[in-house]
Amino acid sequence: PPPTAALNLSDIEEFAEKVMTATAWAYYRSTADDENTYWENQAAYGRFWFRPRVLRKISRISTATTIVGIPTSLPIYISPSALARLGHPDGEMNMVRAAGEAGITQGISHHASCSTEEIMSVKSLGQNLMYQMYMPKDRKAAKDLIKQAERAGYKALILTVDTAVTGKRELDMRLKQSSTNIAAATGKAAVDGLGIAHSIGFAKDPDVCWDDIPWIRSITRLPLIIKGIQSVEDAEIALDKYRVDAIVLSNHGGRQLDYAPAPLTVLHELHERRPDLLRKHEVYIDGGIRRGTDVLKALCLGARAVGLGRPFLYANGVWGEEGCRRVIEIMREEIETGMRLLGVTSLDQLTPDLIRYVDRDPC
Ligand code: FNR
Repeated sequence: PPPTAALNLSDIEEFAEKVMTATAWAYYRSTADDENTYWENQAAYGRFWFRPRVLRKISRISTATTIVGIPTSLPIYISPSALARLGHPDGEMNMVRAAGEAGITQGISHHASCSTEEIMSVKSLGQNLMYQMYMPKDRKAAKDLIKQAERAGYKALILTVDTAVTGKRELDMRLKQSSTNIAAATGKAAVDGLGIAHSIGFAKDPDVCWDDIPWIRSITRLPLIIKGIQSVEDAEIALDKYRVDAIVLSNHGGRQLDYAPAPLTVLHELHERRPDLLRKHEVYIDGGIRRGTDVLKALCLGARAVGLGRPFLYANGVWGEEGCRRVIEIMREEIETGMRLLGVTSLDQLTPDLIRYVDRDPC
């Protein structure tokens, strides 16, 4: 079917499951243990309902904002995710092209399957990308990585911190692929029977800690975003104590610790306990965002922008660049319609009074 056959992001996921290889589907869809966090990421959005306002002029609206200073036409960005080439031969390049055309930003994963040269060669003029890294065990390698990202022209550094070790991703592990298969599919060295995620996870430093943050700051001027914050306490440490430029509330799309809270729940708690932090700093959120209304709810609670991971991997797997464009188009339509029906014309009007928490099933 053509990309327009997908009316929403769930349609895209259904197509992807049918069309993609078993290896790609298992790697992209897999989550930790019993998938409680994976499902809760989305379910948490169902516990917030709107308090819409009417009779406001809404024909002209703006969905523009900035993410660590990077202008974006929508409050969404493409979350860094590994190995887009498992789904399509052009891999991350398809996402970069679609993001450039739509005027949104993207995090390029440490484990991207396209080279920096390939990515930069399809970037349009004025398009800004962020580089996501895990901390390598060898700090010299870490420094080299950061310097390479600067030289390549990335505009921000995302340090992912929810992955000290790799979560137990059973769908991926169950395929019991040989190291040769995995290496052929991913271009990375692999280990028999461990699955893709574990195979590519070995170079990370499990002892990366808060003391490394000032060190990163000392070697780069790039804005620093910490991705994978899962508690109010760590949000406070990152923003109050280490003054990082921004944080992403994220549990890696449910791929790491099962029973880690939904990022929206953490955002809600942050909003109740430390609203000042949300006013002063940029806080982004990802995990389970599949509707324009999800984006609006996160912004009402104080998030600056949201990231989407799997929807882009799936769309890329089915249609390549066109699919990535379709994800953005669907989100744009849903965000704009949602804003109008909520009675707001710009993102700064998305405030907590437009939303209410419902702790039971309201239907
Ligand atoms: C990821 N994610 C991720 N995060 C990161 O910082 N570096 C990475 O290399 C990857 N790789 C990766 C691969 C795959 C297949 C998935 C699904 C996810 C996590 C990603 O950035 C984001 O946090 C989640 O995907 C958000 O959840 P949704 O939108 O997929 O529900």
